[in-house]
Amino acid sequence: MKIETTKSTLNLIFHEDEIAKIKKDGLMTFKNANKKHFVNIMVDQMMKIYSSMADGDYANLFSAGNVIENEEGPHEYKSEINVIEKILETNKQYTDVIQQAKFNNFKWKGLKLLKDPFTLSIYQQLLQDLKPKTILEFGSGEGGSASWFADTTKSLGIHSRVITVDNKALIDLPNVESIQLDVNNINIYEFEKYESPMLVVEDCHANMQGIVKKMSSIMSPGDYLVIEDTIDPEKYDIFKSCDLTSFSRDSKYCDFWGKNNSWNYDSFLRKEK
Ligand SMILES: C[S@@+](CC[C@H](N)C(=O)[O-])C[C@H]1O[C@@H](n2cnc3c(N)ncnc32)[C@H](O)[C@@H]1O
Repeated sequence: MKIETTKSTLNLIFHEDEIAKIKKDGLMTFKNANKKHFVNIMVDQMMKIYSSMADGDYANLFSAGNVIENEEGPHEYKSEINVIEKILETNKQYTDVIQQAKFNNFKWKGLKLLKDPFTLSIYQQLLQDLKPKTILEFGSGEGGSASWFADTTKSLGIHSRVITVDNKALIDLPNVESIQLDVNNINIYEFEKYESPMLVVEDCHANMQGIVKKMSSIMSPGDYLVIEDTIDPEKYDIFKSCDLTSFSRDSKYCDFWGKNNSWNYDSFLRKEK
């Protein structure tokens, strides 16, 4: 299927075999839907509408005149413009408002804490479940997140060692160890063997493939790796190009507030082997 968008339309162009599969399974499968996150959101919303419809009701969602029985493919189905406009408008407001607050107003002890509310509360749950002995964060920012990890684990009675890595000047925070390192040189850095359970957070937006490779070699089964901000389609593509074979997507955390409803799309990962 090919997805084409303009400002106010979403065109889904199906091929013969896909139409046959939709008819057989009663399901539409969208490969590579994450290429553009806003398209993905629209598709999710449309799937919700679609799944609630009775057999043959698709004509209500897709404009009349494009019938599935057309003999020659590819077939073009144009969704109703008002549906798409509404979805686009709602989701843009939703992400923009959170993004604004995240970058400008959200702080921990006066330090910027660059997490959306869903991610932060998912971490809160993950910390209680995992009880990490080590939290290793790539990308310190102002130190708000490392400080929040240290304070939250302490208040939960979990003894965690919190280490934050950044290429900028070292951060001096209580109960936080700081490493100054450009992650592009991660291979020449000798990481010690940290104690498990371990939570590793990638939030520096650099050399993700190198970080995943390196961490995967020092992490143990049951440890967690979170690649942040994969809501960004470019970051999602890099994420998908990493060698994730030793990890599994943990749906408990990925889908905690609804399917992929956080800034970390498919990227709460459990180390399996
Ligand atoms: C988004 S901020 C981290 C925000 C923080 N984790 C939080 O939640 O508040 C990204 C950080 O990654 C750091 N960074 C960028 N490129 C890097 C690199 N090549 N190596 C190490 N750190 C890098 C930046 O200096 C910046 O502090």
